[in-house]
Amino acid sequence: MAVHMKLHRVTRRYDGITALSEVDLEVKNGEVLTIIGPNGAGKTTLLRILALLDEPSSGEISYRGQRVDRSSVQEYRKRITMVFQRPVLFNDTVFENIAYGLRLRGLEGEEVAQRVNDALSSVMLDGFGSRPAKKLSGGEQQRVVLARALALEPELLLLDEPTANLDPTNAHIVERIIKNLRGRTTVVVATHNIFQARRLSDRVGCLLNGKIIDIDRPRNIFIKPKNEIIRKFARGEFF
Ligand SMILES: Nc1ncnc2c1ncn2[C@@H]1O[C@H](COP(=O)(O)OP(=O)(O)O)[C@@H](O)[C@H]1O
Ligand SMILES: [Mg+2]
Repeated sequence: MAVHMKLHRVTRRYDGITALSEVDLEVKNGEVLTIIGPNGAGKTTLLRILALLDEPSSGEISYRGQRVDRSSVQEYRKRITMVFQRPVLFNDTVFENIAYGLRLRGLEGEEVAQRVNDALSSVMLDGFGSRPAKKLSGGEQQRVVLARALALEPELLLLDEPTANLDPTNAHIVERIIKNLRGRTTVVVATHNIFQARRLSDRVGCLLNGKIIDIDRPRNIFIKPKNEIIRKFARGEFF
C-alpha cells in the first residue's frame, strides 16, 4: 500500500516534557491505523501533528511523498480533518452545523444539501437535519460531529478517542462508520480501548512515553506479541 503520510524522527517538546520522541511512522493509504497507549502517552500530540495543527520541535513530515514545509502546510491542512476528543456543536440545527464548514470552503446551494444529507446518511441519522443539534443525545451528537467531518471529504481523517464517552450502542455505530471508510479514506484513531483497536484496525501502533514501541497487524500485537511490554499492552495492563 502506498504511503499517505510519513513522519521521520518527529519530536515534540513542551517546556520540559517530551511528548513525542523521534517518532518514525508511515500511515498507509486507505488503512485504519489505531494508536493505543495509556493517558499521557502522546496520542493527542501525535494526531495534532498528523493533522498539521501542531509543528514538531524537530523531524520531518511528508504527505504523499512531498515534504511538508511552511509554504505548503496550508494546502495540505485542507485535505485533513481531525475530530477532537470533546468536540462542540453550535446552537443551531444539525444541518447548519454540518453545512457551515462546507460553506467556508466555498460550496453552496444544492451541493451543500447533498453533502450534508449523504453525511447524515453515513452516520445513520437520516432525517435529523432540522433538529436542534444541542438537544440530541451525547451519542447522536458525536455522530453529527463525525458527519460534519465526513462531509468535508477529507483524504485523511484523525479521530481522537471517538467513542470514549459513548454508550455501547452508539460506540458500535461509530465503529461501523469507521469500518465503512476502510479503503476509501485513510483513518488514524487514537484510543485507550484495546478491544476496539483489535476490532477496527488494519494496523495497531503502540505508543508509550512518546515512542512507538511496536506497530503491526492486530493479530501480531494481540495474539503473538513480540515482547513483555507489548504483551502487557495487549492484556490491558497499562490502562
Ligand atoms: N499543550 C501542552 N503543554 C504542556 N504539556 C503538554 C501539552 N499537551 C500535552 N502535554 C503533555 O504531553 C504528554 C502527552 O500528552 P497527550 O498527547 O495529550 O497524551 P494522550 O493523548 O496519550 O493522553 C503529557 O505528558 C502531557 O501532559
Ligand atoms: Mg489524548
